[in-house]
Amino acid sequence: MLPTTLTHDFIKGLPKAELHLHLEGTLEPELKLALAERNRVDIGQTTIEEVKRSYQFDSLSSFLQVYYPAMNVLQREEDFYQLAMAYLHKAREHNIRYVELFFDPQAHTSRGVAFETVINGYHWAVRESGALGVETALVMCFLRDMSAQSAADTLEQALAHRDKILGVGLDSDENGNPPGKFREVFHKARQAGLHLTMHCDIDQHNSIGNIRQALLDIQVDRLDHGTNIVEDPELVAYVRDRGIGLTCCPVSNGFVGDMKGNEILQLLRAGVKVTVNSDDPAYFQSYVSDDMFALAQNYPMTPAEMVQLARNSFDASWLSDDRKAAYQQEITDYVAGY
Ligand code: ADE
Ligand code: ZN
Repeated sequence: MLPTTLTHDFIKGLPKAELHLHLEGTLEPELKLALAERNRVDIGQTTIEEVKRSYQFDSLSSFLQVYYPAMNVLQREEDFYQLAMAYLHKAREHNIRYVELFFDPQAHTSRGVAFETVINGYHWAVRESGALGVETALVMCFLRDMSAQSAADTLEQALAHRDKILGVGLDSDENGNPPGKFREVFHKARQAGLHLTMHCDIDQHNSIGNIRQALLDIQVDRLDHGTNIVEDPELVAYVRDRGIGLTCCPVSNGFVGDMKGNEILQLLRAGVKVTVNSDDPAYFQSYVSDDMFALAQNYPMTPAEMVQLARNSFDASWLSDDRKAAYQQEITDYVAGY
């Protein structure tokens, strides 16, 4: 039975998918320090408190300035494997049954780490994830503040590993880097049979214009964040009618403004396949159940709406219809037995 009030316990046990999770954003301070020592990389901090104190950001660009330098500790295939496995243990704890894992190869190849080191390390964890009870897939993101040519070169490298990648995305600094900059590389990715998603971060310069470009021009299958879509009812109808998912991240949003809870609930109630995700959980100190609970604590919503968010997380995924149906049944069973 549905509980009368939403508890963290109910939300944590609810079977769910995570569709907006940056593997590099799961680097917890403990692992960061351990890898820094193992690989003899000076990150400027030596204690957990110092690392946490460096997490001062109030905008996407100030977050990215902390985020990228920390990746220097990731050097070898085992490091990428260990990072992903640490997250997958967390995922199991939060009853995340399926996760589409974003990763940023250019953040590593640009500092001399081979593409193969990155993809093979992450794929090693993907191969082992089933034994943990978490189904996984990799989604490769291009860094939008790098050139379109760099993205094209990265896609070329990735196509040699086509079987390891389910889709492509676009992240990093949106300012001055609209979706159209990557039209050709996304077209090529589509031709290769990859699914397409793309960040349209909250409250960007020309957010709604970028959302329109991503949907109508690039024809993405999903939008990451994208909550500014509420400014345009025609685009809301467009995503609702096509079942295009929006992967929202309330706690991450809260770091740079408000959680966008009103927008998320407005979209949910309009029938849009909106989902709740953690984005970069180690940096925002919030895993997906915490994000869902934070939403419920700060905005009035019903237990049935929370269950709908979990249902949307599978529906908006790139799983087969059979797998989606199996997970929907898990949700039905969980609620019936609660
Ligand atoms: N990289 C990691 N998290 C991101 C976000 N929320 N937006 C853009 N790029 C990111
Ligand atoms: Zn993100």
